[in-house]
Amino acid sequence: MDHVWNIVFVTAFLFSIVIFYLLLFKNIRLRQLKSKHITQLPLGTLGWPFIGETIEFVSCAYSDRPERFMDKRRGMYGKVFKSHIFGSPTIVSTDADVNKFILQSDAKVFVPSYPKSLTELMGKSSILLINGSLQRRVHGLIGAFLKSQQLKAQITRDMQKYVQESMANWREDQPVYIQDETKNIAFQVLVKALISLDPGEEMEFLRKHFQEFISGLMSLPINFPGTKLYQSLQAKKKMVKLVQRTIETRRKNGISKVPKDVVDVLLSDASEQLTDDLIADNMIDMMIPGEDSVPILITLAIKYLSECPAALQQLTEENVKLKKLKDELGEPLCWSDYLSLLPFTQTVITETLRMGNIITGIMRKAKKDVEIKGYSIPKGWCVLLYLRSVHLDDKNYDLPYQFNPWRWQDKDMNGCNFTPFGGGQRLCPGLDLARLEASIFLHHFVTQFRWYAEEDSIVNFPTVRMKRRMPIFVMRRVEA
Ligand code: HEM
Repeated sequence: MDHVWNIVFVTAFLFSIVIFYLLLFKNIRLRQLKSKHITQLPLGTLGWPFIGETIEFVSCAYSDRPERFMDKRRGMYGKVFKSHIFGSPTIVSTDADVNKFILQSDAKVFVPSYPKSLTELMGKSSILLINGSLQRRVHGLIGAFLKSQQLKAQITRDMQKYVQESMANWREDQPVYIQDETKNIAFQVLVKALISLDPGEEMEFLRKHFQEFISGLMSLPINFPGTKLYQSLQAKKKMVKLVQRTIETRRKNGISKVPKDVVDVLLSDASEQLTDDLIADNMIDMMIPGEDSVPILITLAIKYLSECPAALQQLTEENVKLKKLKDELGEPLCWSDYLSLLPFTQTVITETLRMGNIITGIMRKAKKDVEIKGYSIPKGWCVLLYLRSVHLDDKNYDLPYQFNPWRWQDKDMNGCNFTPFGGGQRLCPGLDLARLEASIFLHHFVTQFRWYAEEDSIVNFPTVRMKRRMPIFVMRRVEA
């Protein structure tokens, strides 16, 4: 009997040793896997010493398919890969989920990070660069005002006025440069919303110096007399002075209870965190969408429509129909008509945002080691969220290079595969205004004109624009 107990005891002992080792092994393996996970960077190459892969990145960026740089590496390493561009080791993400995670992270995890020339010109207190509670405060104040019905009504009035004035001067025997016309109009509209300035000498002063200012945004980061960056900084100083004069006058005369522009909104901030310098700097930086993003959105919409007669016809029919209805009622279109009674026009704008990728990518820097979807991003590394690749991915959109506004008729715009305005805490506060201004221009354009577009092409770097400023020949419609 003792013998039997001995066998049972030894077997149980051996069995528990086996189990113990199996568990131990599993634990070690798990830990190994985990630590491998944490330390493993995305695949990819850092390229040459110092310059990394910048030359290939920039040469692709100048071509008509900037995403080729990404496509090649996606094929080899996957949707998220490491590279070295613009002087920093960078993780490039073309993965919508990873982008969403990063956009939604707060400043403890990721902060904005842009090339040096851009940060010098924007200034430390630019909303695009500040973080934490100050950014949330400024974003909240500006966002609430830009979304207000009062401002949308004002923008609609101004935009209609400037569009009509500009179109009244168009001649049938000379080309109209759509990019110039839209820049002119959108700049005036935005400057009015920011500092209540009407067209005139000061507006021309701002426009002149603004050109100088933005021409240095992607220049070499060398600042001494004679360099591009120096000239741009001088131009910004002159503009800041003008805005500061406005601020001083407002402070002297008492701050308005009902804000009429963004300066008023920031001046009325109860927390008194916002200095005059911060306000003035931000007013200049916020002129960029007026001179750049919004006009390019309108210009690209007209380019795509020129190449897609079916979309142009449907858009024209929709706008002519609403115009006739409003004429019969004897009332002009109001802001909500543009945004809700012209559904096909909105799909044209959405599709233009997808294909045009006016903001190609967003840059951040990791404040600590982060792990997302199995990818590890080390502290101090830059991340380029390449929106363009997500918007032109055939896994997300059928025939992605085809302009097809109809695809949005039964598609959700709020998914993470569509982020032309960014997301999270820094989601563009001007997105409604951009859509509104584009709708107003398109409405007046297609209801008053037919046109023929001359040959032109899109330049994608350093900012998106038309090579020849989009020349078209117009003919006034008689029936509308
Ligand atoms: C087609 C037009 C536009 C596009 C494509 C666009 C795109 C964007 C994107 C992608 C961001 C996020 C940047 C980031 O996460 O770092 C952004 C931020 C911003 N946009 Fe726009 N934008 C447009 C028009 C406008 C307009 C009309 C305004 C103002 C009137 C405006 C004001 C801003 C501001 C103030 C921010 C900074 C928000 C923050 O960091 O808290 N944008 N925009």
